[in-house]
Amino acid sequence: MATPAGFQALPLPLIQLSLAAVLKCGQSFRWSILPLPMPSDPTIPAQEYRLCLRDRVVCLRQSQTALFYRSAFPDPQPSPTQLQLREAETLLWLNDYFQLDIDLSKLYDEWAARDTVFSGVKERFGGIRMLRQDPWENLISFICSSNNNISRITKMVQSLCKQYSPALLSLHDPSGHETHTYHPFPPPSVLAAPSVTATLRSLGFGYRAGYIQKTAQILVDAHGTTEAGREPSELWLESLRGVATADARAELLKLMGVGRKVADCILLMSLDKKEVIPVDTHVHQIAIKHYGFKGSLKGKSPMTPKLYEDVNSKLVDVWGDYAGWAHSVLFTSDLKSFASYGIQEPTPSSPVKGSKRSRVESLLPTPPTTPLPSPLKRKASSVPLESSNEPDSLAERVKRLRRK
Ligand SMILES: *[C@@H]1O[C@H](CO)[C@@H](O)[C@H](O)[C@H]1NC(C)=O
Repeated sequence: MATPAGFQALPLPLIQLSLAAVLKCGQSFRWSILPLPMPSDPTIPAQEYRLCLRDRVVCLRQSQTALFYRSAFPDPQPSPTQLQLREAETLLWLNDYFQLDIDLSKLYDEWAARDTVFSGVKERFGGIRMLRQDPWENLISFICSSNNNISRITKMVQSLCKQYSPALLSLHDPSGHETHTYHPFPPPSVLAAPSVTATLRSLGFGYRAGYIQKTAQILVDAHGTTEAGREPSELWLESLRGVATADARAELLKLMGVGRKVADCILLMSLDKKEVIPVDTHVHQIAIKHYGFKGSLKGKSPMTPKLYEDVNSKLVDVWGDYAGWAHSVLFTSDLKSFASYGIQEPTPSSPVKGSKRSRVESLLPTPPTTPLPSPLKRKASSVPLESSNEPDSLAERVKRLRRK
């Protein structure tokens, strides 16, 4: 697939990152997914993915072997020279957000060697990696996630941005027919206003409305606000990346609407705690069905702190250091919305939408009917696993660039 006009190409095999899976599996709720008018590669979904950051909209497309990216900016438009620098910033952001210095295919091989259930799903559910999200956005999104589903959380997060954050810019969709308006995620000081509770309730947030306002208020009271740039509360949340898991969790649990599971989602998805597995009844059921965990598949057991710890330590034993990452592959393979993912022609033996059996279970006896062509493998040794934790990480470099 040739590089689309206006885009830059980053060589990246699908096995390292599958946008179609990663951006829809309940990690982030703010990406727009737009169909492309002329699919040029029939083996992968023809879509463009867009995310509004503070100062730009990042647009992505993907082929078997490359990630294509471009940024859109509000007026005044950058000069060609400025644009080059800005796209270099976007590339740094992509490296950081998708944690591209972590070799996913090496991790998949390690998990498959430890776990036959994992080896049964790895081909069909390739390229599922943990995003490294903005902790503030991640926190508010997961306060919305309690007793909720992916499509409804997505609607809530999008209406929150529209309500509380001025539009940054408008862009045509890829077919050029419609215009979409993009809003960044609102900062803590805006959501701390007392009127936020009633407004969010009227937008259908229910009891989560008060939790969002109170959490924002707790953070702003503790850390203050600034005139411009990222607020102190956001920087404080991000600083928890450098704090031990148990201590970071204890800090998150002081906020409103944040219980153990929501805290663990934030630890895993934006605070670099790769070993953390957020346990809910769904994960509990996976542990019972596939990992010999004792318990009933019928009546849902209440999630006690002891049960939570037991499921967690069982699964950490199975998967090791990057257990949280492995869990998200199994979790995605078990989502109803992924029932026909990676399968082109449903056959009588393959899972179909609405099937009562879980995806993991249906996949075990037979390999996927039409596995995706095997992409290029990156040399494992050339990609250090721990480099994202080094002090001068890409995140720091991106932040410095942004401040300029
Ligand atoms: C998500 O939840 C809403 C409200 O409870 C419900 O109407 C909707 O059908 C659910 N969607 C899915 C995909 O389960």
